[in-house]
Amino acid sequence: MSRKPLIAGNWKMNKNVAEGAALAAEITAADIDYSTRDVLFAPPFTNIYAVSEAVKKNGGKAFVAAQNVYFETSGAFTGEVSCDMIKSAGAEWVILGHSERRSIFGETDEVINKKVKKALSEGLSVILCVGETLWEREAGTEVETVLAQTGKGLEGVADLSKVVIAYEPVWAIGTGKTASPADAEAMHKAIREYIGKIRSKEQAENIRILYGGSMKPENAKELMAQPDVDGGLIGGASLKAADFLKIINFDK
Ligand code: PGA
Repeated sequence: MSRKPLIAGNWKMNKNVAEGAALAAEITAADIDYSTRDVLFAPPFTNIYAVSEAVKKNGGKAFVAAQNVYFETSGAFTGEVSCDMIKSAGAEWVILGHSERRSIFGETDEVINKKVKKALSEGLSVILCVGETLWEREAGTEVETVLAQTGKGLEGVADLSKVVIAYEPVWAIGTGKTASPADAEAMHKAIREYIGKIRSKEQAENIRILYGGSMKPENAKELMAQPDVDGGLIGGASLKAADFLKIINFDK
């Protein structure tokens, strides 16, 4: 089977309501062949609704994701946002376990796993992020680290049809340093083989594994050409319509 590439923009803490709607409108007004690729925007919570409306106006073909969600349904959790809230604002996806959530906000594999299970039980699709630090890579423990994050993040999740994995080496995020296509491919292959072991060969074949970490127009084509790289999770280069469109149209 061939996996449909997913090009996902992680806007992080950038763009207010008007700016976010304008960016999504500009990108979705362009020529994109949605039959051969999926496109996703992950704006901050505050502009999920406006971005969803902008996408709908241009045909509604791109997906909208939150960058995080809480694992409880509702109640006294000041500052948190629920699955129902993001769905009601127009998100069908959520990014979970991003390295910034792990390192700055202290999210553990256990917390991330609770969020993955909750999001899937509420009908959301999930992008689960995994990745090693520079220290772990230099110590030669990168594969072990990434597979452990993958296994723990997916604990108790039997059906992976609504799960995408994003491999993001922490040392490559926002630094301009990209993993070489060969390094990315090696890790993606290791993740896919591991999914084959902990779930099934079929699920391993079908699951999409994105690369993230300084992906940009100049390196997208070569990264995307790797057999186990099924798309990108793009930060910096997703904030400019022209750059993101070049990545979306990596094969044109
Ligand atoms: P970057 O971020 O493309 O700016 O490196 C990627 C990410 O953290 O998702």
